[in-house]
Amino acid sequence: MKDFKKMFPMFKYNPDIVYLDNAALAFKPYEVIEAGNEFYEKYSISTRTADSTLGIKVAQDLQITRKIIANFVDANENEMIFTSGTTDSLNQVAKMLSEVITEGEIIFTYYNHSSNIVPFIENFKNKNIKFTYVDSNEELLAAINENTKIVAMPQVTNNFHVYYNMKEIYQTCKKYGTILVNDAAQAVVHEKVSINEADVIVFSSNKLFGPTGMGALVIKESLIDKLSPKKWGGGQVQAIGSGCDWTSRNTMVRFEPGTPNLAGIFQFKAAIEFINKVGYQTIQDTEVEIAKYLYDELMKVPNLEMASHRGDRVLLFNLKNIPAQDVASFLGHRNVYVRSGTFCAHKFKELPKYNNSYIRASIAFYNTKEDVDHIVSLLKHGGDFLDFL
Ligand SMILES: Cc1ncc(COP(=O)(O)O)c(C=O)c1O
Repeated sequence: MKDFKKMFPMFKYNPDIVYLDNAALAFKPYEVIEAGNEFYEKYSISTRTADSTLGIKVAQDLQITRKIIANFVDANENEMIFTSGTTDSLNQVAKMLSEVITEGEIIFTYYNHSSNIVPFIENFKNKNIKFTYVDSNEELLAAINENTKIVAMPQVTNNFHVYYNMKEIYQTCKKYGTILVNDAAQAVVHEKVSINEADVIVFSSNKLFGPTGMGALVIKESLIDKLSPKKWGGGQVQAIGSGCDWTSRNTMVRFEPGTPNLAGIFQFKAAIEFINKVGYQTIQDTEVEIAKYLYDELMKVPNLEMASHRGDRVLLFNLKNIPAQDVASFLGHRNVYVRSGTFCAHKFKELPKYNNSYIRASIAFYNTKEDVDHIVSLLKHGGDFLDFL
């Protein structure tokens, strides 16, 4: 297997780290870091400094970046808004939609991240809206009806792997005039995400080997034209009238007031180019091989209760009678990074088939069989220590 770790300086400076919290944050390859340095070193000019050689270059690069990121999910540049991440994207779109929808139903899955629930609750709580939660693909398909105004769901969850057929779900949504919001924060790293199978797509660059504090809000053109910006300030204004009236420019900057995170935007572009260079097929093949090996080896640990399936990239498990947080802390203080708890997905606990807390190991394509051997050895031989906790 190729040594992908060489592409990521985090492994140079932390050669012994076993990093298995990729669902929270993925490491950054050299070219992503370099894209930020290049901006600051060579053309660190605001897009507002528009009447200058470098100002024009930065503005043009920004437009090219918008197009590259939009195209990544089959959208065009008039459908792509830069945000600070998935959470920001969901907050903005929930607020936008709350202006045009006043009654009906919003459907979530039990596996939604809280950032794909709470912005909707907050923006719709004073309206005549019912919130419904569903489990499987079949349940979701059966639940959508003429009263359903929004389905807000993850294409891939950050907890249990539940297969959702986005094509089928979107077809059903279209039949009832329902807006489909695809939280692609996890999916976009591992598989194809497309605006042809949703009305809205949100994701963060951080999990995509890109910078923290950057994200995308992609809204289908036919819908975006009906929505208005929910952030206000410089750069978006055409004119301000004498009273409360003002007009915005009609380009995408109407949604992006203020000086953008330009270094972050160029690093985001470098991250997409990095994924395109490595290729989804390589990423998938490598991840699936490691995921299966991790599953097989974890199953050999005495008293380990596995809650995920063989091949899942996110594996949830527990050690019998030991709190998940104690195990995560035991590992974390031995340079093995996992997570414990419910991973901001609070609603799945309501389903009787699940526990209140799990240990989560989430892999990226740079993980190796040595990483797996290391965590498994600690879990096996830390037995006495763990029992003692
Ligand atoms: C499925 C899902 N949605 C939303 C988020 C929130 O993303 P961010 O913290 O980058 O805004 C996460 C983060 O883990 C996630 O996994």
